[in-house]
Amino acid sequence: MVITAKARKELNRNQFGEQAAVEMYRMLAKRMADPQDAAAMERLAGDEARHAFAFRALTGDGVPKYRLLGVGVTALYRVVGKKTLFRLLAMGEYAAEKGYRHLIPQFPELDAVRADEGKHRDALMKLAE
Ligand SMILES: [Fe+2]
Repeated sequence: MVITAKARKELNRNQFGEQAAVEMYRMLAKRMADPQDAAAMERLAGDEARHAFAFRALTGDGVPKYRLLGVGVTALYRVVGKKTLFRLLAMGEYAAEKGYRHLIPQFPELDAVRADEGKHRDALMKLAE
């Protein structure tokens, strides 16, 4: 498959974002008081890792690890608490779902990734109840 430089850049950026989300959910998992919340964070981290891999499979490129998102979001969790945090994360997942839509015609294999982000949104909204 021929990938334009522009598309590669976007795929790399998405891979970077997914990788940052892996780190973020792992860090959050360690800080959740409720074991069920911790398990949910671990599940999300696992999904995001598969997503990062799906982007990587298209380009073969590696991206640097990024922990600052996790550090910031973990700090935010301490300030706003889990309900607000989960709602904010749900908005991020929805934005990811929307942001991936235009990629699907060219990269149909990413549709499962896109669909997952919608499921993450729903799962986070449920955790925020
Ligand atoms: Fe993802």
